[in-house]
Amino acid sequence: MTGELILIVEDNEALSQGLREWLQMVGYQVELAPNGKEGLRRLEARMPDIIISDITMPVMDGFEFFELVRTRPEWTTIPFLFLTARAEKKDVLIGKGLGADDYITKPWGPEELLTAVRVKLKRTQDIALAQLQLAYKDSLTVLANAIESRDAYTRGHVERVSAYAAVIAREMGWTEAQLADLELGAILHDIGKIAVPEHILGKPGKLTDEEFAEMRKHPETGAFMIRNIPYLAAAIPCIRHHHERYDGEGYPDKLAGEAIPPAARLLTVADMFDAMTSDRPYREGLPIDEGVAAITVESGSHFDPHVVEAFARACQKGLIAEAHATAG
Ligand SMILES: [Fe+2]
Ligand SMILES: [Fe+2]
Repeated sequence: MTGELILIVEDNEALSQGLREWLQMVGYQVELAPNGKEGLRRLEARMPDIIISDITMPVMDGFEFFELVRTRPEWTTIPFLFLTARAEKKDVLIGKGLGADDYITKPWGPEELLTAVRVKLKRTQDIALAQLQLAYKDSLTVLANAIESRDAYTRGHVERVSAYAAVIAREMGWTEAQLADLELGAILHDIGKIAVPEHILGKPGKLTDEEFAEMRKHPETGAFMIRNIPYLAAAIPCIRHHHERYDGEGYPDKLAGEAIPPAARLLTVADMFDAMTSDRPYREGLPIDEGVAAITVESGSHFDPHVVEAFARACQKGLIAEAHATAG
């Protein structure tokens, strides 16, 4: 059985046995404890996904049990449901006051209990997933920055490109889901630079043809690096195609116009704008308004005109300058 583990703390044996049978039938694993003290012992041995506890029990009652469970950091996130015959208002208030997740009064219907269990488990899983995704994004940004920092002159590039890209996408009315994929692409777009030798990456001034050819491999290298990670798949179009040009003169695939994935067409504007407006050892970055002019001039040749339009609108509203200031 691979279902979630439910710990039932209940002194009425007939009741707990009945509950166990019934919950096992719908696919859950169940452990029983006759009182709070025994419940704590069970928790030590194996952490359940949810706890259902009676209130009135010998040795240690449900309230004391609950308070002890919540003192241990690793147990604080386990959903806790009180299950009791005492429907008195006082008990409900004590239970809720302690911070229990829910309170079910006997007699309960099986459906009512099952719904409460499912809702609590789902909520806990959703929170865990959201936290995991956040941690994932943070780790990716750390990784991208680590690669970036080999090239000291482009520090902060990832953050700024992400910020500009988000502003342009909002201006174009992209959905939240599209924005999330775009952000992932923005974070990872230059990840293939990890394979570019240090002396090329950090070279002040113009690159030789060979060095340039080496540098131009980074989109393909990056896309190849993450090809087997399903969670990152959405970033591949940005990674592989952020150096394509609207007129088909870019790399690596010389795609043109609508054949370039939309996220890559958008990202390239954010990427090039940052490249123009940030300082290099051999030249100072352009002021923002000149950067905007330089992008606009290449509308339809280097860049998708629709993206440039949205970018120009965002500039007029001051949104690009704002993103520049915040992403630093
Ligand atoms: Fe790049
Ligand atoms: Fe870049």
